Amino acid sequence: MLLMIRENYEEICKVAAQKFADFIRKKPNCVLGLATGSTPLGVYKELIRIYQEENLDFSLVQTFNLDEYVGLPWEHDQSYYYFMKKNLFDHINVHPNSIHIPNGMASDIEQECLEYEKQIIEAGGIDLQILGIGSNGHIAFNEPFSSLGSRTRIKTLTEKTRQDNARFFKSMDEVPKYAITMGVGTIMDSRSVILLASGSNKSWAIKNTVEGPITARVPATIVQIHRHATVLVDRDAASELTDAIKISE
Ligand code: F6R
Repeated sequence: MLLMIRENYEEICKVAAQKFADFIRKKPNCVLGLATGSTPLGVYKELIRIYQEENLDFSLVQTFNLDEYVGLPWEHDQSYYYFMKKNLFDHINVHPNSIHIPNGMASDIEQECLEYEKQIIEAGGIDLQILGIGSNGHIAFNEPFSSLGSRTRIKTLTEKTRQDNARFFKSMDEVPKYAITMGVGTIMDSRSVILLASGSNKSWAIKNTVEGPITARVPATIVQIHRHATVLVDRDAASELTDAIKISE
């Protein structure tokens, strides 16, 4: 696992976006794993800039998002589909048929989850996956005590995660209770992962992810045994690290 610590949010986003851009240039038909939430926003902004100013070509890229709320239609302004369109897809030349996001309105959610796994395999597997991390150490919506071998499935969101996400909804009652999420095992099958974290509210999760024992209690700890994992954090998110060798490139 490569630990990279940068001064602030802006810097980690630049580094992550550059890694994505370099990868897309190396493998134009690559398969990207994407995340929503506040953390990747700066990365997407920078990727849009590189697309506009440096001709980064997404025309052959395929994308798979980590997760989607159950019960929110795609046009709902808090659905992850809407988020991705607004913050990335509407601004780059990715082909609409190459975009994959679980359908939280599917009548048969179990079948939808199986299909999603199948689509990832048919695309050749995910080359590069971007991950955020919850303040409780979740990755995607794999909350504490999720099986570390889990596959795409429906999950109940914890109260903590619902509270963390309530800022985007009018009231707590409107925050969905369930989500479809790639499993920890699905994420671990990606050929490379970049986990990003910014801010002191992530310092506990990063301390555990980098220095703690691997445990389902903190699902992100599994990245310790991923073959190509980069943990890219700013000073605040790194502030509780003590033992880890801090690499400053
Ligand atoms: C979203 C996702 C979540 C977020 C996490 C952190 O697709 O998978 O695990 O990455 O909740 O969210 P932010 O970045 O808003 O702090």
